[in-house]
Amino acid sequence: MTDHQREFGVAPDGAWSAPGRVNLIGEHTDYNEGFVLPLALPHSAVATVTARADRTLRLRSRDVGDRVVELSLDRLVPGEVPGWAAYPAGVAWALEGAGHRLRGADIHFASDVPTGAGLSSSAALEVVTALAFSDLNELGLTAPELARIGQLAENDFVGMPCGILDQMASASCVEGHVFHLDTRDLGGRQVPFDMAAEGLRLLVVDTRVKHAHADGAYGRRRAECEAGAAALGVPFLRDVPFDGLEAALARIDDEAVRRRVRHVVTEDRRVARVVALLDAGRAREIGPLLTEGHVSLRDDFEVSCPELDLAVDTANAAGALGSRMTGGGFGGSAIALVPEESVAAVGKAVTDAFAGAGLAAPRIFEAIPAPGARRLPV
Ligand code: GLA
Repeated sequence: MTDHQREFGVAPDGAWSAPGRVNLIGEHTDYNEGFVLPLALPHSAVATVTARADRTLRLRSRDVGDRVVELSLDRLVPGEVPGWAAYPAGVAWALEGAGHRLRGADIHFASDVPTGAGLSSSAALEVVTALAFSDLNELGLTAPELARIGQLAENDFVGMPCGILDQMASASCVEGHVFHLDTRDLGGRQVPFDMAAEGLRLLVVDTRVKHAHADGAYGRRRAECEAGAAALGVPFLRDVPFDGLEAALARIDDEAVRRRVRHVVTEDRRVARVVALLDAGRAREIGPLLTEGHVSLRDDFEVSCPELDLAVDTANAAGALGSRMTGGGFGGSAIALVPEESVAAVGKAVTDAFAGAGLAAPRIFEAIPAPGARRLPV
């Protein structure tokens, strides 16, 4: 008997899956309508769902809590569903708000996306719920529509002012590729990304640290970017051309805002350069751009932290071609591009450095680009 049957006493109508992600480069660009380059992880959230005849939502997680959370689709109120259930409940709320009348559902979730690690465990929950509802209610939503619903749930139901990167990555990534996404129109291109064929590995270092002020600081960075765009008279920082960066910076009085703008504009440029190198079959050469991106996030955008800097500096010193924090920052994960023959040395160096600094052992694994959200065969 499956967990779903044991919990709800019925067989599921179907099973759906949506992955976590790492972002290769393009950080804190999404809410500036810029460019990102994520890949899906093999780690994913799986939802098994039985549609109901009434308007009741029963949610159960294998991983968090020990009971079913029961809600009514007619009484979903932002901010009033505590804990993990706010993500799927928020998706139902966002779909209803978009004019879709949903059938109730019994949903069982099982996720192996590490939580609090900056690997988008919440986007995986949102997107898997949105896709399951779309299929069971025959809504036929596209990947960008699923992603927007997930983002709306997170922004307005959960209360985290995230951009669209995580949800689009989870909804749209393709196995073996990184997704070059323009967050302005949600158009993009899948770029082949086979590091093993180049004798390389992309390692993820989950620092297992999450600093408490992360969410508040994220909102402040967004506000600073908006202030920068307003000072320059453009809708979004995406509209500041790289060629005009120096002139633009000279027009901004606030020192901090000036540095935030420099990060975003140079980061968009780095995304373009990384994509050009990948297209040209020159994957080894992206390493320095990854490190440059980290330095920009650390010094100009100020969203790194000592643990992420330690992971990046140690990996680079031990033979990585380049490394950077990935995701929102203030803890979470770093990535490192490492020649095959240095993988063991880099892993050991980072593990030793964390032990030496009195930190818990980081979790280190290889990121191999996996498929985006999909219905699973049952
Ligand atoms: C978090 C947010 C994303 C994005 C990244 C930074 O992951 O959820 O929308 O802004 O931070 O690139």
